[in-house]
Amino acid sequence: MVRKWFSLWRVRNNKSSLEKVEELYNSLDMGKLPTHIAIIMDGNGRWATRRGLPRAMGHRAGVESLREIVKTCSSLGIGYLTVYAFSTENWKRPAIEVNILMDLLVEYLNKEIEDLHENNVRVRAIGRINELPEKARGALNQAEKRTEDNEGLILNLALNYGGRNEITAAVKQMACDVAVGKLNPDDIDENIISNYLYTAGMPDPDLLIRPSGEQRISNFLLWQAAYSEFWYSPVLWPDFRKEHLLEAVVDYQNRQRRFGGLKSK
Ligand code: IPE
Ligand code: IPE
Ligand code: MG
Repeated sequence: MVRKWFSLWRVRNNKSSLEKVEELYNSLDMGKLPTHIAIIMDGNGRWATRRGLPRAMGHRAGVESLREIVKTCSSLGIGYLTVYAFSTENWKRPAIEVNILMDLLVEYLNKEIEDLHENNVRVRAIGRINELPEKARGALNQAEKRTEDNEGLILNLALNYGGRNEITAAVKQMACDVAVGKLNPDDIDENIISNYLYTAGMPDPDLLIRPSGEQRISNFLLWQAAYSEFWYSPVLWPDFRKEHLLEAVVDYQNRQRRFGGLKSK
């Protein structure tokens, strides 16, 4: 009896989630989609701990969310999706957790690459990639090569990424280029600086999503997020699904971006 009620409740609950997705799709303005979405994939550890599971299980469950969100962005026709997968600060975690994260990255790329390729997704890695373990570098290299000619969604995987680190590296490179006469200090402007970042040639994120209830930037896209619209959600990343992404996009579409100017009529 209890089981019967539970399954009825589940059917109803699933239905309402499907209905929600449909409603959100209906209220989307396809002509006003964000070109670039950035996501801080946070909350895996808490998701696992709340279930009495090891943190690694949370990371594994988080991969499922990534899969669904990439698919959704790709089918919507979003231009760029940048996901924060490992920060320059995440090395502070126990080596065993870091290892698990690297293994999951390799597993994700190996399993998904053909699917991503078929969906015309182009995979790119941003961050200090040369400091990642060899297995991760190898898998990233392969994924980038396999998908380099694709013209659909650009999926930026931010790995060993830190905004301050990125800006520091850019400043260093600019100083070197000035020293050898490749760059004239008088020419340095915001555009040139942008072009020294990992995201050179890409538009800044329009929408920056952080699940898990935290409301901070945690060193993500510091330069690029100057005018991004922020969307926070208490949902933990492993529970983050299509409906949450659509909710964020619909909310974004109802915002007014002013970039320091005045309200447009
Ligand atoms: C995000 O989840 C994954 C990484 C930072 C690599 P967390 O592992 O930070 O999860 P919480 O914040 O501890 O719940
Ligand atoms: C940000 O999450 C980094 C990633 C999601 C990869 P963290 O969990 O590391 O950030 P803090 O420590 O809560 O600021
Ligand atoms: Mg976290």
